Amino acid sequence: MTIDKNITSEELRKKWLDFFASRGHAVIPSASLIPENDPTVLFTTAGMHPLVPYLLGQKHPSGTRLTNVQKCVRTGDIDEVGDDSHCTFFEMMGNWSLGDYFKKEMIEWSYEFLTKELSLDPKKLAVSVFLGDKDAPKDNESAEIWKKCGIKKDRIYFLPKANNWWGPAGVTGPCGPDTEMFIDKGNPCGKKCSPACDCGNYLEIWNDVFMQYCKDAEGKFSVLKQQNVDTGMGLERTLCTLLGKKSVYDTDLFCDAIAKLEQLSGQKYGQDNEVTKNMRVILDHIRTSVFMIGDTSGIVPSNTDQGYILRRLLRRAIRFSQKLGVQAGGLSQIAKVFVQKYQAVYEELKKNQDKICTEIDNEETKFEHTLSTGQKEFDKLCGYLVGDTISGKAAFKLYDTYGYPIELTVEMAREKGLQVNLEDYHKCYAEHQQKSAAGAEAKFKGGLADNTEATTHLHTATHLMHKALKTVLKDDTVGQKGSNITAERLRFDFNFSRPLTEQEISQVETMVNQAIAAKADIECKEMTVEQAKSSGAIGLFDQKYGEKVKVYTMGAFSKEICGGPHASNTGDLGVFKITKEQSSSAGVRRIKATLTK
Ligand code: ALA
Repeated sequence: MTIDKNITSEELRKKWLDFFASRGHAVIPSASLIPENDPTVLFTTAGMHPLVPYLLGQKHPSGTRLTNVQKCVRTGDIDEVGDDSHCTFFEMMGNWSLGDYFKKEMIEWSYEFLTKELSLDPKKLAVSVFLGDKDAPKDNESAEIWKKCGIKKDRIYFLPKANNWWGPAGVTGPCGPDTEMFIDKGNPCGKKCSPACDCGNYLEIWNDVFMQYCKDAEGKFSVLKQQNVDTGMGLERTLCTLLGKKSVYDTDLFCDAIAKLEQLSGQKYGQDNEVTKNMRVILDHIRTSVFMIGDTSGIVPSNTDQGYILRRLLRRAIRFSQKLGVQAGGLSQIAKVFVQKYQAVYEELKKNQDKICTEIDNEETKFEHTLSTGQKEFDKLCGYLVGDTISGKAAFKLYDTYGYPIELTVEMAREKGLQVNLEDYHKCYAEHQQKSAAGAEAKFKGGLADNTEATTHLHTATHLMHKALKTVLKDDTVGQKGSNITAERLRFDFNFSRPLTEQEISQVETMVNQAIAAKADIECKEMTVEQAKSSGAIGLFDQKYGEKVKVYTMGAFSKEICGGPHASNTGDLGVFKITKEQSSSAGVRRIKATLTK
């Protein structure tokens, strides 16, 4: 593969840092990929993330103008990896004003950097600005500054919050309206085509966020005491644009690793679509794993939180490398190539190279063991099979109990002339996810950590409140319609036709606090749905459950079907307080409540 040598990743990083350094910005190092101050998010997802305390008003030791290139991980689009542009790891070039300059300077610099430093044609640029809503006004000011810079009126798009608002990075924190910059590829899908359109004509390359607001756990926005600027430009994507390449994988960042993978697999990148896609998945996942393991707060594969995500990425890379015929031990060789490529910028990688390779090799060995156990179970299953279709439930068991990937089950079945009931498999999978409140799969998708002590306790309190509501309202048909838990509060929707009185609210609070004061052990038993029903457990019986369910009992007070996780004793919860009772929709009320120690 030949790479256009016009601009390299090293040159682009330098251009960025030099530009902002010469405008009074202190160059700060990339922070760790594992956030230190935000328990609601597993990885650093943007350059501003480690800077949250300073955006909120704390003094930063390096001053009020900062710039860096930050390592980021976003796993939300994992299934898209393999196409031209998606990556789970990326570098974000950013700059910040902590209550220093604001819109005018930032937009003028943005225009200058894009058109002078990167020599992008101003005629090919389009920008979007915030349309305004109940939380913040229309951003005419930014539009005017863009016009003065030379952006034509018809290239400035006013868009709503869904498009032109950024943050917070986790559940709560600083955020604000933004103005985004796009390359117009000159191929609109119609008259109404705009940067809000996903036809692919507009490629976002930079985002200037005017961080003036803070979102709280209730979803309300308050004005911050200082006006900040937070900007982010994706390194890979910009590089790809400047080189005129179709894919981020066609940049110098991946060039050596592709050559290694070609050598290990004996296949060519860029010829066959399927092979290319498989190679990209390996390249992406191994690069991300290198940065996760090699981080200053490096992690190793495990079954929880960050370690679980790393395990999923590695196992996926292993699967795809097997498809390409790469021998065991090949992935750590690719990892070494990435270390080599990035070590001048991220010296922690060189220091941790041995650890990176050992962890990848170990995971490969463990996964092979998983696969061979799964294979035995698969053979057993085929031995008992009547007919030619493996049931969704059996396929799900292979996955759930033995970690055997569904694609493999399908492949193996095909080899034996059998089919798999995939529709049922997906149903089982969905049910499983729904039942486990802290579903690790959901976590993988959202990158959110949701089984902290705080959320576990609030989840437990939800059970107590559910029961208390039925009792106080003397209505057994009162039941859960929705539940949402953050580290700060629980939110519970239930069917009931009128607002609760103050007295009822206080009775519910008292009843829950009494159940907490009773310091009851919380017990979990597995049983069939029928047994659960006849034992008097509360459940969403109109929902589909699996064959066996978990029933949690909290003293004599509450018994409910649930996937967990829960506290082990109600006495651990603290003081329960209802902070809000309101209408959610017709016939459905919503309660928000907190626990304090
Ligand atoms: N924090 C902003 C983003 O990630 C700049 O797009």
